[in-house]
Amino acid sequence: MAAAMIEELLADHERIRTYLDLFEEQAKRFAAGEDADISLLKRIAEFFAEFPDQRHHRVEDLIYDQLVRRGEELLSLREEHERVLAGVTLFRDAVGQILLDQELPREEFARTALNFIRAYRAHFEAEEKDVFPRAQSLTGDDWKEIARGVAAIDAEPIEPLRRARLNAAEEAIAAYLD
Ligand SMILES: [Fe+2]
Ligand SMILES: [Fe+2]
Repeated sequence: MAAAMIEELLADHERIRTYLDLFEEQAKRFAAGEDADISLLKRIAEFFAEFPDQRHHRVEDLIYDQLVRRGEELLSLREEHERVLAGVTLFRDAVGQILLDQELPREEFARTALNFIRAYRAHFEAEEKDVFPRAQSLTGDDWKEIARGVAAIDAEPIEPLRRARLNAAEEAIAAYLD
């Protein structure tokens, strides 16, 4: 159970990294005044606004809480997640401004986008280096507790609109990556 849960989180990281690469490529094109796929940027913003905070980071928070309960000293994952979430909001607002054709200098958008991408990649690296390896020290009982929390998250109803937005975003990104 423990290994499967960490593998699932790592698989999410792998997938989200390909989205970050795609996002970086489009943001740089936009900043350089080249043709960028703005609707794709919008989909990527929607993906980041909906998916990781819905489940991925929350599962990590449960693992983190259990590590803290076991007396492990590690980076404050909950604070990290709040910081990352603030970056998502800024990024989504920036994409929204472009879509509304408001004055947003291209360099300013690129700065917001690249800061977001950099922070996200650093966040993944910190988790893989500092959090996931420590999770090996958790006991079977710890993992049962975590699994109970994950089951509670999975049992929460997701607003149909949010679900639809996330599905549409993932389909659009997958189609682009194909
Ligand atoms: Fe995270
Ligand atoms: Fe993560």
